[in-house]
Amino acid sequence: MMVCEYKPGLEGIPAAQSSISYVDGQKGILEYRGIRIEELAAKSTFLETAYLLIWGELPSKEELKAFEEEVRLHRRIKYRIRDMMKSFPESGHPMDALQASAAALGLFYSLRDLHNPAYIRDSVVRLIATIPTMVAAFQLMRKGNDPVKPRDDLDYSANFLYMLNEKEPDALAAKIFDICLILHVEHTMNASTFSARVTASTLTDPYAVVASAVGTLGGPLHGGANEEVIQMLEEIGSVENVRPYVEERLQNKQKLMGFGHRVYKVKDPRAIILQELAEQLFDKFGGDKYYDIAQEMERVVEEKLGHKGIYPNVDFYSGLVYRKMGIPTDLFTPIFAIARVAGWLAHWKEQLAENRIFRPTQVYNGKHEVPYTPLEQR
Ligand code: ACO
Repeated sequence: MMVCEYKPGLEGIPAAQSSISYVDGQKGILEYRGIRIEELAAKSTFLETAYLLIWGELPSKEELKAFEEEVRLHRRIKYRIRDMMKSFPESGHPMDALQASAAALGLFYSLRDLHNPAYIRDSVVRLIATIPTMVAAFQLMRKGNDPVKPRDDLDYSANFLYMLNEKEPDALAAKIFDICLILHVEHTMNASTFSARVTASTLTDPYAVVASAVGTLGGPLHGGANEEVIQMLEEIGSVENVRPYVEERLQNKQKLMGFGHRVYKVKDPRAIILQELAEQLFDKFGGDKYYDIAQEMERVVEEKLGHKGIYPNVDFYSGLVYRKMGIPTDLFTPIFAIARVAGWLAHWKEQLAENRIFRPTQVYNGKHEVPYTPLEQR
């Protein structure tokens, strides 16, 4: 057997062959099925992009219409799932609520027919359609309100914002939200996608695949960083405090949230688009002092860490966009999950097509031949 060098975090080690997305971290390029994200953000919708990722090609007009209709029809969640969610503690993190709810879907749809394209399609539709409903339902229920039913006359993103805020959203906000979903839908072999593929490789159901990926996305080094960015900007509090804050953290060898990426060594192309979207929102709905702080922070961090390739990542500006839409901070990561579920499902489908169960090796650095010490001698 070939002995490979151990790489912490599996850095640089391919875990799969994939044709879903491509990143060039030096040039700042991200493509979904070969199409640049700038083009998709300008011309596509979240559901069309999800279709592209999962089935490999842009849908025809009829295919897109059929997919949108199926998703629209499956937005409602079962009463028993809603009732189960009602018993969740309101102080619990919405990512934990989402992980539990996604896993619970597997109890209700327990048939496992992984070789049947109709089963794959039904599961894809159900997960893409119900995840936003579950996120919005938990948000309303933890405030003591009843969840609102999805509105069939609203598109995917507008409906989510409606279910969340109990009022029809502004058209620009809904459009910008949809673009945010496009920007978060997929990103090669990141931690949660790897998690999804490992779970998928055991041939379990797609609900377990998504639940394990949601659990992985929640951590502060992955999707959870966008929450911490807002907390950090609030802690800094003013433009003048940026430089001393950055200097102190760097001196204490602490990370600056929303900066740095395993792959990108330039500014994340998604951060560039998100910054433009934030500016569009500020133009229409008024500015945000935290944006001034963020811009100053980007300048200072570039000055201090640019030589190491540390620039804003996707999480740096996304929180400011969601904040301007009135979305609570602890929903930022669940919203990331609403988008990323389509990417995970694309990887689930790809994994199933050429499956081999994941079983990496390890470098054992423990002891050998240790005698057992009886309890009374310890
Ligand atoms: N602030 C300060 N220094 C940093 C940062 C940062 N945010 N990120 C990396 N560095 C420095 C490290 O201290 C290290 O310096 P050294 O070589 O002098 O020791 C060097 O850059 C390399 O950093 P690593 O942590 O080894 O990079 P890795 O690829 O393992 O980590 C990660 C990438 C986890 C994203 C890291 O940059 C980080 O923790 N960033 C903050 C959290 C964050 O924003 N996460 C969201 C990522 S995007 C996403 O998941 C959707």
